[in-house]
Amino acid sequence: MVGLGPKRKPSRKGSMADMPGSMVEEIKRLEQLFTVDTKKLKAITEHFISELDKGLSKEGGSIPMNPTWCMGFPTGYETGTFLALDMGGTNLRVCEINLPEEKGEFDIIQSKYRMPEELKTGNADELWGYVADCLQQFIEYHHEGEKLDKLPLGFTFSYPATQEYIDHGVLQRWTKGFDIDGVEGKDVVPPFEAALEERGVPIKLTALINDTTGTLIASAYTDSEMKIGCIFGTGCNAAYMETCGNVGKLAHMNLDPDAEIAINCEWGAFDNEHKILPRTPYDVIIDKDSPRPGQQAFEKMIAGLYLGELFRLVLVDLHEQGHVKMFEGQDISALKKPYSLDASFLSQVEEDAFENLAQTHDLFEKELNITPKRPELELIRRLAELIGTRSARLSACGVAAICKKKGYKTAHVGADGSVFNKYPHFKVRGAQALKEILDWESGRDGKPLKEGTYPVEIMPAEDGSGVGAALIAALTLKRVQEGNTVGIKDWEGMLKGTKAAKGDNKQFGGK
Ligand code: GLC
Repeated sequence: MVGLGPKRKPSRKGSMADMPGSMVEEIKRLEQLFTVDTKKLKAITEHFISELDKGLSKEGGSIPMNPTWCMGFPTGYETGTFLALDMGGTNLRVCEINLPEEKGEFDIIQSKYRMPEELKTGNADELWGYVADCLQQFIEYHHEGEKLDKLPLGFTFSYPATQEYIDHGVLQRWTKGFDIDGVEGKDVVPPFEAALEERGVPIKLTALINDTTGTLIASAYTDSEMKIGCIFGTGCNAAYMETCGNVGKLAHMNLDPDAEIAINCEWGAFDNEHKILPRTPYDVIIDKDSPRPGQQAFEKMIAGLYLGELFRLVLVDLHEQGHVKMFEGQDISALKKPYSLDASFLSQVEEDAFENLAQTHDLFEKELNITPKRPELELIRRLAELIGTRSARLSACGVAAICKKKGYKTAHVGADGSVFNKYPHFKVRGAQALKEILDWESGRDGKPLKEGTYPVEIMPAEDGSGVGAALIAALTLKRVQEGNTVGIKDWEGMLKGTKAAKGDNKQFGGK
């Protein structure tokens, strides 16, 4: 086999020699539970392909495969001034993006607002009121005293929303720990627009988008090989471009079968029926204790929100079972608090470069009031590696499935999110898994594989929820101008009061 990326030392064999037998046995058990071998990766990928297909069909499946009404890639020559709003998990980001005439260029100004924790489980009016207040503040700050035309807005709403129209979306269900009553099953746009209206904020929503679609489009703006947009963060999901002829559930609309439409897969829902993913007892607990049991099966095994919790559940279990005497005699009350460890805790364990794991030792003392002994530290490190590796390898199955389904032998995949950007070794582990699934023997250049020549390369994306949202708004306005209003609920309303309505061609995307 051809090596891929820097090889990690066959780590810590020496220190294992001093381990009590029961601890060695326990590490082996965890390795069996959390390791996904090549054969299993391939089986998961094959099943994934059939589930992607099912999701596109009229009957549907558990992966939603939501058509986004973002019809095709940008040319690089889109122009105009747009607002973008990203309602993510931790922050609310507002941007103003100017797309100048130069190909693939953009200017951006932005402000971030904290997303108060209590809003995530509060009520809908408070949520939309807060979002509208932030937009109002942004406009007042950046356009004080100006008489403004209505600014078109691309709103990145990173939750599963069925989109009969690009300017509307019905939230299927909350994901990523949000739990606000009275929003699921409803169109999120009218209450959002009502909150803007109440405050007289000069904004017109042009496109409601998913973060993955934004990532795909923003990355394609500067890279024509871009085929898939992925988020590996608090949640995990992907979007790609499909031809309408392949979307069975849109057959009744008689669209041009060759026209392109971006599909927001919502692949977090893959294997909700538990047919193929190798779930451990800890995955079962995560699901059972989550606000939406039975949903987002794939996401719950790989996304940032759950990595720390998986790790915590294993450690608590080992303490309670007693056979390895994990943290024996210590007060583990801090560790017992659900969701007290996030993915960055795991990252820190994996990043500990000291042979004696001194950083991990200090981290446990400081954050959890636990003093781990040396063999316990070894288990902790191995467990973090296993959970992080499983996440990267399972994530790769989704990417491989889209590539195989579309027949892409080579592709660029734009990725964003905290796990992709910050979790140690995630990229190399993902590439290794792709190599195993797709049987790569050599790089694109025919030479031994190395970063930069992988046939399918997962690479850092452009700013999806800023530039991507602006581009999708621009593409939407442009096609309205050209008379293509398919998938747009209120195209006249969309233009009303904007520069575009006055025939300002620059606001549409010029050439
Ligand atoms: C969750 C959301 C999805 C989003 C992903 C990444 O899976 O359901 O819409 O794209 O997280 O943020």
